[in-house]
Amino acid sequence: MDKTGRFITFEGVEGSGKSTQIHMLIEALQDRGIPFLHTREPGGSPISEKIRRLLLNAEHLEMTPETELLLYSASRSQHTFQTILPALKAGKLVLCDRYYDSTFAYQGAARNLDLNFISELTGFATYGTVPDLTILLDVPVSAGFKRITNRKLDRLEQESSAFHEKVRLEYLSIANNNPLRYVVLNGLDQPSAIHEKILSSVFELIGEN
Ligand code: TMP
Repeated sequence: MDKTGRFITFEGVEGSGKSTQIHMLIEALQDRGIPFLHTREPGGSPISEKIRRLLLNAEHLEMTPETELLLYSASRSQHTFQTILPALKAGKLVLCDRYYDSTFAYQGAARNLDLNFISELTGFATYGTVPDLTILLDVPVSAGFKRITNRKLDRLEQESSAFHEKVRLEYLSIANNNPLRYVVLNGLDQPSAIHEKILSSVFELIGEN
C-alpha cells in the first residue's frame, strides 16, 4: 500500500450484520499484519462519542430532524478531522462503521430533509473526504429487526418499519449511483461467504493477495 491509506465504510439497516463482518475483517487483517484503524459513526472521537449519546438517547423524542442532521454532521466533522484523516495520512486502512451515506439514508430519505443541502453540508463537514470503498450489507428490514430483538432499542431503532424501508431503499439507490465505490452484498448469506467477498474487495483495493 502507498503512504496514503484507504478508507472503507460499512453501511446497512439495523441488524444487517455490519459489526459481525467488521470483526471478521479485523481478524483477517490482524492475521496478515496489515495496519488498520477501526472506528464508527456517530462517534469515533471523544467529542463525537458525546454527541452519539445525545443522538441515540431514547428519551430525546423531541429532537427535530434539523437538530439531528446537524448533530450527525458535527460528530462527523470532528471525527474526520481528529481520527480519520490522521490515520489515512499515516497510511492506515480505515474501517468505519457508517459514514455520510447514513445521513443521506436516515436524515435525507427517511426524515425527508433536502438531499442537496445534505450534500453541501457533508462536503463542508468532511473536508471533502470520500470513502474508497463502501460495503452495503443489504437485508430486508424485518429480517434485520429479528436479529436485534434482544437488545434495548435506541432512538433511531425505535422508528417505524416504513422509516427503515426508506433507509434501505436509499442505500440501494446510492449504491446504484456509485457503482465504482459500492459493493452490495446480501446480508442474509452465510457470514463466512459474505466475509470472503468483503476480503476479496478489500484486498483488491489495497493490492494484497
Ligand atoms: P449503530 O451504531 O447501531 O449503527 O447506530 C447508529 C444509529 O444512528 C443508526 O440507527 C443509524 C443512525 N445514523 C443516522 O441516522 N445518521 C447518520 O449519519 C449515522 C452515521 C447514523
